[in-house]
Amino acid sequence: MEFNTLLFAIENGIATITINRPDKLNALNKDVIDDLSQALDEVYTNREIQSAIITGAGPKAFVAGADISEFITLGVGEGADLARKGQTLVFDKIENSPKPIIAAVNGFALGGGCELAMSCHFRLAAENAKFGQPEVNLGLIPGYGGTQRLTALTGKGKAMELCMTSAIIDAQEALRIGLVNHVFPAETLMAKTIEMLTLINTKAPLALTKVIQCVNVAGQASGFETEINLFGECFATADMKEGVSAFLEKRKASFEGA
Ligand code: COA
Repeated sequence: MEFNTLLFAIENGIATITINRPDKLNALNKDVIDDLSQALDEVYTNREIQSAIITGAGPKAFVAGADISEFITLGVGEGADLARKGQTLVFDKIENSPKPIIAAVNGFALGGGCELAMSCHFRLAAENAKFGQPEVNLGLIPGYGGTQRLTALTGKGKAMELCMTSAIIDAQEALRIGLVNHVFPAETLMAKTIEMLTLINTKAPLALTKVIQCVNVAGQASGFETEINLFGECFATADMKEGVSAFLEKRKASFEGA
């Protein structure tokens, strides 16, 4: 399959989806979300595919977040729509995929990038990977499931800390808090990911689907809907406009609490 913003390859039953905007650190714009949605449909339906990897192009980033340049003109409803569309078309589709989908995190996984990795069934990281939810720097909150999945993976206290401080943590710290399962030297990350999926691909496919379904309903809540609505509400604030403008203008934001 051909995509404008993704590379998509199938080898030995494993589909590799590579987000391919390295000059923008693979930020998730509307086109990436649409392409990912289609690529996931292919993972769901193509009988040749047993499992999938999501990774980022280039040596620097997995995904550095949602594309901040698309935020500045949005209002409350449009903000919520952005979050809802992304969650429905991509993040929930990954989480609920009947086939295993693993994140190979090869650099920055910030904001929507950390959320993308967290929506995968588990995460393997390169030693240079960096994780964080820096949305409050922009007057925003996570909108692609971050408040819910980070809490599920790391516990409430750590999720609060990471979302409040915007701290960027390295791969070893991500391993320590349960955000990733294994850390490998960058040059072996893809080979190790393929090795693990090659093993998983020898297991009973229907049983794997049922494992995914069961683990996914552990600790479910109505939190995602709350997150969608509150993400939308950020777009009514002057602070969001200031935070996003400051990023685009490459200056420090000054917030007023309005
Ligand atoms: N959305 C849109 N563009 C982004 C982006 C994002 N989330 N993250 C990076 N980019 C762009 C930069 O604007 C820059 O584009 P330009 O060359 O046209 O100016 C390019 O990607 C390279 O990024 P740059 O900031 O120059 O790289 P760096 O090595 O100095 O810094 C980061 C790397 C990841 C620390 C920095 O890019 C960053 O803070 N990104 C935003 C992270 C974030 O807040 N994500 C959450 C969004 S909700």
